Amino acid sequence: MPAIKNIHAYEIIDSKGIPTVEATLTLDDDRMVTTSVPGASNASQNEAVDLRDEDPNRFSGQGVTHAVSYINELIFPKIKGASVFKQIEIDKWLCDADGTKNKSRLGVNTILVISQLLAKAASVSKQVPLFKYMNDLYENTYKEEIPIEKIPTPIFNMINGGQHANNSLDFQEFEVIPSSSFTFGTAYQRAVEIFVELKRVLEYRNATTAVGEEGGFSPNLTTNMDALEILMETVTQLKMKCGLDIFFGVDMASNRFFKNGQYLIKDKGHSMKREEYLNFVKSMTENYPILSVEDPFADSDWEGWKKLNELISKNIYVVGDELIRMNKDKLAYAIRESACTSFIIKPNQVGSITEVFEMVNIARKTNTSYVVAARSSETNDDFVSDLSVAIQSEFVKFGAPTRGERVAKYNRLWQIEREELK
Ligand code: PGA
Ligand code: ZN
Repeated sequence: MPAIKNIHAYEIIDSKGIPTVEATLTLDDDRMVTTSVPGASNASQNEAVDLRDEDPNRFSGQGVTHAVSYINELIFPKIKGASVFKQIEIDKWLCDADGTKNKSRLGVNTILVISQLLAKAASVSKQVPLFKYMNDLYENTYKEEIPIEKIPTPIFNMINGGQHANNSLDFQEFEVIPSSSFTFGTAYQRAVEIFVELKRVLEYRNATTAVGEEGGFSPNLTTNMDALEILMETVTQLKMKCGLDIFFGVDMASNRFFKNGQYLIKDKGHSMKREEYLNFVKSMTENYPILSVEDPFADSDWEGWKKLNELISKNIYVVGDELIRMNKDKLAYAIRESACTSFIIKPNQVGSITEVFEMVNIARKTNTSYVVAARSSETNDDFVSDLSVAIQSEFVKFGAPTRGERVAKYNRLWQIEREELK
């Protein structure tokens, strides 16, 4: 049994300039694995939170030395010598030790690092790729085989707005989705070509080519639909076919522009009540080759979700991110109520690999689609790439096809396609 000889955690800085946790696990045969976690929410009752030092003299209170010392001084001594194959048991022990709904005692930055280290170390000691190890782990846990047949279709975040950019756009992500008939390598190539051409198109229009938090451009445009128009123009310039080769997606992240029960965006000069806004979203999906709409309605507006889902979900993915926040009760409710057809998997919104698997199991039993996504606050770790292949998510969404923390994950998928899924 490959046993844990040492675990050493320390602070690193993420893509937003905020501290996060990285750690190295040494096996008893001296092989080592390293992993890090993205930034989570700081204070939320509804999703897992990071443990932050709250020391105003370091990193504006965002330091993670408490999480680091929990790992080094509290958790490691208790699991020293344990087998790295005990993923489910150790994950459960950590969740019980935390004991809160939102992981606020130990912090999700503490728990997820250990969970990822175990999976990585187990795969190294079995000498199988990480995705294969996690795929087997899922199968052994749920007695359900997930045949590994493909690399998930990538969703590329080309134009950033909302909370992710300092510009005029209300929607958070304007995305390009290459046809799922392409290999990953071809899809990636197309996305990079679109990104480069998009820069030229924006420059031609005298719009800024500065980028937002996920690496997409963040121009100031008059309306949100202008962003989709620009994407259409870019794709057409490249002689790719919209609606055939290339589809679009939007993460509307609508909580941000939902105020007093109404939706206010620049495309309309007034706040919209549910019905009018529903028609707006529906016509957007008719006017553009849209394949996926994420968080079109506020997470409290279940009626809006249900109505839209009924109207468009035959051809378009209606994706819950803030609606679900990796909460299994919310996911079960959303499925029962037919509020969405897909949801976003961000491991650090829940806590451990075991809990991710629980969500995947609910989804698979109900034919619900899922998208493995990176966060806006990222590291160069590529764990989520292997996870997406292991659980055969329909899509992945890691940001723009540029910037180290984004391409680290896309490049890993490309490598898996090249080397493992020949
Ligand atoms: P976040 O955004 O990482 O800032 O939560 C990602 C998303 O909304 O999909
Ligand atoms: Zn989102």
